[in-house]
Formats: sequence, C-alpha cells, structure tokens
Amino acid sequence: MGEVDPAFIQEPEHRPKISYIEGQGIPLIDLSPIHSPDNVSAIEGLVKEIGSACKEWGFFQVINHGVPLEKREKIYSASRKFSALSAEEKSKVRKSEKKVYGHYDNEHTKNVKDWREVFDFTINDPVTVPASPEPDDEEVTEWKNQWPQYPPELREVCQEYTQEMVKLAYKLMELIALSLGLPADRFHDFFKDQTSYIRLNHYNPCPAPHLALGLGRHQDSGVLTILNEDDVGGLEVKRKTDGEWVRVKSAPDAYIINIGDTTQVWTNDEYESVEHRVVVNSERERFSIAFFLHASSYTMVEPLEELTSEQNPAKYRAYSWGKFITHRKRSNFQKLSVENVQI
Ligand code: SIN
Ligand code: FE2
Repeated sequence: MGEVDPAFIQEPEHRPKISYIEGQGIPLIDLSPIHSPDNVSAIEGLVKEIGSACKEWGFFQVINHGVPLEKREKIYSASRKFSALSAEEKSKVRKSEKKVYGHYDNEHTKNVKDWREVFDFTINDPVTVPASPEPDDEEVTEWKNQWPQYPPELREVCQEYTQEMVKLAYKLMELIALSLGLPADRFHDFFKDQTSYIRLNHYNPCPAPHLALGLGRHQDSGVLTILNEDDVGGLEVKRKTDGEWVRVKSAPDAYIINIGDTTQVWTNDEYESVEHRVVVNSERERFSIAFFLHASSYTMVEPLEELTSEQNPAKYRAYSWGKFITHRKRSNFQKLSVENVQI
C-alpha cells in the first residue's frame, strides 16, 4: 500500500472495511409494467415494491427502465475522453467568477478530500430568481453552463442523456406519489424550472484505498438521484436496520435510485434520505454518472399537507430550495443539511 496526501485520509471510524457486506444488497425492481400502463394490477404491484424499497432502504435498482443503452454508452465514452485530458485543460472549465459555479473540480465531503474528479452541468440554462419576496434578499444564481472544447460531442450526448433521465425521474416520482396514496402528478409542479443537474464522476486508482474514500459519507439534498456506474463497483449504502455499510452490486444495465432530503421533508420522514459513500481501489479507475432531480429555485420545501395530521405533525419548517442550495454550494457542501430545518 502506498502513501497518500494527508488531506485525503479519513478519520479511523470512517475508513472503509477490508471485507464488506455484499449480496443482501438493495432491492432490484423490474420497471416493465410502466411500458404497459393499462395493466392495472402489474402497476399496483410495482407501486407496492417501490413503496417498500423507499421505506426500508431509501435505495433501489431498476431494470427495464426504457433508457436506451446506446445513450449511456455515448456519455461514458465522452466522459472518458474528457477525464483523460491534462489537469490544466480540464481546469479551464473550473469555477471562475463569484456566484458562478464551474463545472470541473475536486471536492471535499465533511472536510476530507474526496478521491475523485467531477464534471457537472445543469440541465436548464442559468436562471436568476429572487430567493424570497423580501426586498433585501440575495439573489439566487444558478450555475452557468460551461462546456469544454473537447471532446466536441460532449455537450450533445450529455443533453440527449439528460432527456432520458428526466423522463425516468418523472416516471419514478409518479410511482412514488402513488405509493404514498397521492395522485400520480402530485410532484409535477415542483419541477417547472427544475435545478436538476448531471455529474460525471471519475475515480482514479488510489494507492491507499484503506485510508481514503472516493466520496465521503453524505446524503443527497435533492428530490431523487439516478445513478449509473460502470462494472468496477464501490458504492456503499448505510443499511437502515443496523447502520452497517452494504456494498451495492449493480445489475447489468441497471440504474440505482435513491431518495434525497427534499423527498424526506415532503414525506415528513415516511421516506428517508439514506447515507452513502464510495470506496476506491488500487487497481482500476471507476466512472459513474449521476442525475440529481432538484425542484425549482422558488419552491418552498415543506412536509406535504396530505402527509401530516394532528397525530403526525410536520417535522420540518418550510425552506426555500433556491436559498438552501446556493448557501450549501458556497459553504462547500459542509454546513447546511436538512437538520437545519428540523422542528
Ligand atoms: C458514485 O457512486 O459514483 C456516486 C455516488 C453519489 O453521487 O453519491
Ligand atoms: Fe450521493
């Protein structure tokens, strides 16, 4: 085992285990029924499965999701080409001016550096909206699209892939709504000017995989995440029943779905956002692609009325999504979490 820059070394209690739990992993759900919506009993069965997975794990995998393999292959190929550029070339798309969030970076999670590089892009053009009606409030500026020159096809393949992710995300949110006893379109309005984005992750082989993490433990702050990973593996999910880290083994052509903090708040903890992390290895580089479904900046996130009652009062105060995400980015993902709005 080699040496690693101390900035990457995790506290002993957060270092990855040498042997890990595999096999009892997250539920695998076949989405075939969505392609024949008239088969009511099949849809009902699917809705039940999704509801249980959200409740018990906060994570599941889907197959027969309808996303063409070719779209995914193209984005992986472009991502590999981009990641093979020199650090200097890649850093040309890095954040530049204040309030503009650039797109290629290394990051820290909870003060320790992550052993990875990311390239992010938003799915909508940048929008500037007032964070709240108060006149002296700061404005919320969304990230600006900044595309590299090379590879030239990156922009187009990313945009095509994004369209597939949005379709799948909406379908999943419909199934999640039904599983909560809500109308299928209950969440639609929150996504009118959504601030969703896509992240291309690249994890280099690490000389000290027993000390560092590709991505430190965290919860996703948005609504829902759709992740695709290559065959290297490394994602670990904190099992709700006993707090053990469980390694996810992706089924071929599967997408991994997880609930984010926004959905936890909307459902008043019925569906919880679960901690996860990524371990690295010393031999193979790993690529993954994440789509983060986020609400529009002007959404006030709060427990849905239908899911609260006198017996089950709201556990969170309403918060502006735009303000929350902007402050979180400025504080380098560390200070704000959903706990800040807990009642
Ligand atoms: C990954 O598995 O590479 C990313 C997971 C995440 O974004 O949390
Ligand atoms: Fe995550």
